[in-house]
Amino acid sequence: MKLLVCGGAGFIGSAFVHQRVAAGDEVRVLDALTYAGREENVAGLDVELVIGRVEDPDAVRQAATGVDAIVNFAAETHVDRSILDGQAFVLTNSLGTFTLLEEARRRGVRHLQVSTDEVYGSIREGAFTEEHPLEPSSPYSASKAGADLMVLASHHTYGQDVVIARGSNCYGPRQFPEKLIPVMTLNAAHGAPLPVYGDGRQVRTWLHVDDFASGIHAALVHGESGQAYNVGGENEKLNIDVVHRIIGLTGASESQIKHVEDRLGHDFRYALASDKLKAASGWAPRMDFDAGGLESTVHWYLDHPHWWRPLVDTPEYRAYYRRVYGREPDFAPAEV
Ligand code: DAU
Repeated sequence: MKLLVCGGAGFIGSAFVHQRVAAGDEVRVLDALTYAGREENVAGLDVELVIGRVEDPDAVRQAATGVDAIVNFAAETHVDRSILDGQAFVLTNSLGTFTLLEEARRRGVRHLQVSTDEVYGSIREGAFTEEHPLEPSSPYSASKAGADLMVLASHHTYGQDVVIARGSNCYGPRQFPEKLIPVMTLNAAHGAPLPVYGDGRQVRTWLHVDDFASGIHAALVHGESGQAYNVGGENEKLNIDVVHRIIGLTGASESQIKHVEDRLGHDFRYALASDKLKAASGWAPRMDFDAGGLESTVHWYLDHPHWWRPLVDTPEYRAYYRRVYGREPDFAPAEV
């Protein structure tokens, strides 16, 4: 297969690219290389990298030449950033998806939309199936839900070949240090405060990035057109328990935990039922969060300062950190 992977230099996109190249697919990456996308994430792989924005029809048209399918990972993904300023989210996530859909339709190729459990909103008990209405709560999740609706509308209106894969919280190597696990790992290792939002009793279900990547491929190959498929993790955790585990793995101190002001509109819990994808493809997550998944991820960050240091040692990152946490990051720019 020849794939156009949009956002393929980001965290989840690059995990997918690594898998597909190893499996023998031909891959072209379209990536704007914004703050979270990095050429280094796909370095050494036999892929063509096109630098461009998904909401730019000319860039998309050129990049899509000759491909069999478009897989769209390109997104602004961080909820806290969307609360500070949602404009880039609407542009990339909503308009970008629309632009890619138009191109996929023009070419008559499948559009696989990478989406998120956050489009369903928060759930106290049980797990969301794909039939649940979309009730997003943040500017980020609203922009992703808008994209999902546009994808489904293209199928309804034009009979376009589309599939959606909705994942739960991902963890693993190469995640930008703004998300819970890399932020806590770097702070823990540097003796810095561990900023837990509110009481830390919110619940997330963790899915290793390689399992999400294989689930997305399963949906791409086995998914029925016009359908959404949940790709859920099976490791449900309180945030505070994840933080305790990271403290244990890094040799940090419990006294570093600092409860800070809660995220605005914070979703309490996400959970996905993935039976539909399992039945369609036989997909199942392989990495266990408690049996090696978190530990290998924490060690990856500790062993790869050359990967994360250039990301945090920037005025933009320090300004972001100050706005969200009201302090300078303790791991930048000082040496490890
Ligand atoms: O569920 C899938 C989603 O997971 C993706 O669609 C999003 O793109 C991705 O960012 C992630 O969203 P979350 O908001 O759940 O992830 P985050 O790592 O930002 O936060 C995880 C939980 O940890 C959440 O309840 C907020 C909390 N948290 C996060 C940070 C960064 C803290 O308590 N302190 C922190 O410093």
